[in-house]
Amino acid sequence: MTSFRLNGHDISVDVPEDTPLLWVIRDEIGLTGTKFGCGIGMCGACTVHVGGRATRSCITPVSAVEGADITTIEGLDPAGTHPVQEAWKDLQVPQCGYCQSGQIMQAASLLKDFPQPTDEDIDAVMGGSLCRCMTYIRIRDAIKKAAA
Ligand code: FES
Repeated sequence: MTSFRLNGHDISVDVPEDTPLLWVIRDEIGLTGTKFGCGIGMCGACTVHVGGRATRSCITPVSAVEGADITTIEGLDPAGTHPVQEAWKDLQVPQCGYCQSGQIMQAASLLKDFPQPTDEDIDAVMGGSLCRCMTYIRIRDAIKKAAA
């Protein structure tokens, strides 16, 4: 049994300890905003916050989050009005949308470290979050808008 807090709720799951956190979130808990892309930590689609830090849930075994405080896109701001989400909507960042919950979670984490990020800061932190629709310019603009 592994226990943690997820989006403010106490959760306990009885799964093998090497089960990726991504599948616990999606299949055991039923929150499907966190996406599966590559499964090997290379695309960012599965990004959640663990202890407030952006974390790739596809390569994080559930045993590693015992007692941790986890936030998914559903819990970032239950009303969907986090500054990053507002900027994403204002600038119509998504195209297909598949990667965008991971992008938003990575961006929200970025702004904790860099409240006024430069292009270089954004590229360094967001560079590993891949988007097949090439929304990178809008992502960068939205991060700056959220920071303003
Ligand atoms: Fe986790 Fe790609 S699905 S990084």
